[in-house]
Amino acid sequence: MSEIVELKYGENVYKLPVITGTEDEKAINIAKLRDETGLITLDTGYKNTGATSSSITFLDGEKGILHYRGYPIDQLAEHADFLEVAYLLIYGELPNKEQFDSFVNKIKKHTLIHENTKQFITSYPANAHPMGILASAVCSLSSFYPESLNPYAEKEDEDLTIVRLIAKLPTLIAWIYKMSKGHPFNYPVNKLDYCSNFLHMMFSMPTEEYHIEPVVVEALNKLLILHADHEQNCSASTVRMVGSSKANLYASIAAGICALWGPLHGGANQEVLEMLEKIKADGGDTKKWIAKAKDKNDNFRLMGFGHRVYKNFDPRAKIIKAACDHVLAKLGIHDPILDIAKELEHAALTDDYFIERKLYPNVDFYSGIIYKAMNIPVEMFTVMFALGRLPGWIAQWKEMNENKEPIGRPRQVYVGKTNRDYVPMAKR
Ligand code: SDX
Repeated sequence: MSEIVELKYGENVYKLPVITGTEDEKAINIAKLRDETGLITLDTGYKNTGATSSSITFLDGEKGILHYRGYPIDQLAEHADFLEVAYLLIYGELPNKEQFDSFVNKIKKHTLIHENTKQFITSYPANAHPMGILASAVCSLSSFYPESLNPYAEKEDEDLTIVRLIAKLPTLIAWIYKMSKGHPFNYPVNKLDYCSNFLHMMFSMPTEEYHIEPVVVEALNKLLILHADHEQNCSASTVRMVGSSKANLYASIAAGICALWGPLHGGANQEVLEMLEKIKADGGDTKKWIAKAKDKNDNFRLMGFGHRVYKNFDPRAKIIKAACDHVLAKLGIHDPILDIAKELEHAALTDDYFIERKLYPNVDFYSGIIYKAMNIPVEMFTVMFALGRLPGWIAQWKEMNENKEPIGRPRQVYVGKTNRDYVPMAKR
């Protein structure tokens, strides 16, 4: 017997179906609400509104649970390779050895980008924000692969676009970084694994080979896995919305990059490091900054804290915090920023303001400290988030298309001026 809710409106009582997900989440299906009642719902910021039914990622904000296709995030972060997780998110199952090797080999064949892209990247000022260049560069990939513009492409063509994006993003990111430094660009070396190849392209110099530290590769692999998807977050919803108009995958991912750039979303990892550096420069008085974060007249927020869904510890933050300690110890780095972060975390977690609002460290709070230990500049942090999130965005776009979802077009409640006649300028 399917559940229903009754909506009493005027003289009528309407019955609306309740759907139940595989993790017992419940939702009122309002697909017929306006036709039956003339009413729409209003939920600014979609805090209570589901946009879709999805099989990709499950998270429970109260219990701090995060699963990719049913697999707990801590197990994947501990045991999996990032490309293995990318395959899982995109195709729904963990690959067997043959499937994994085939996927990796296809990616290796597409790590180069058209040489014209160099002129494109070097045309930017050195201090251009990397997210702006990356979004433009990813969208411009569609110009080199016009067949990707076909909204009804064959599965093979769609898979090729997926492989191209995953293969080329590390090269694009590394070239953007090298442009900002005025260094020569490095080409991918395909005998290297995905993370090692990225680090090589980022940090090798013609004068000396970059020594690829296994602990750094392991940490990067873990970070990319932890960022790989997060159900209907701002940028994933953007990718689905843009894709719902049958825009090509490159354009949809570029839109996701733009949404992630915001300081309330993926841009928070850069903001966290800048905040910690500011607190350090200010003498490390964490209590003063906690007070600022609580002061409604001060627009300072404790970046890296709070989450729309997690009202408990973000499970990713716990794993990244442990990885932070491990990486810095292995690299023999003592970064006072980490001490400030831990002090800030402790102060916030014992403060009523944060406790009442269930504000805990999120994925962005510690990730920047590891990126800093990897010598990745702070302005590249959000680009690193995009590198990790790419498979999740692809999976969300693919699912939306496979479900044949209609073009996204929310309603609104109009609260503006009612009908009035034009007034000639002379009479205004
Ligand atoms: C990501 O959605 C996802 O899944 C995103 C993400 C992913 O993987 O895709 O997890 C990645 O974006 C993580 C979040 C990174 N952003 C930050 O760290 C920026 C700082 N945090 C926030 O601005 C905020 O917590 C949000 C944006 C994350 C969530 O905002 P909500 O859900 O809209 O909550 P809110 O802004 O309405 O805040 C509720 C209350 C408010 O106070 P009151 O009006 O009740 O008095 O909590 C306060 C806020 O002022 N608050 C904070 C705070 N975050 C919320 N106060 C101080 N410092 C903060 N960080």
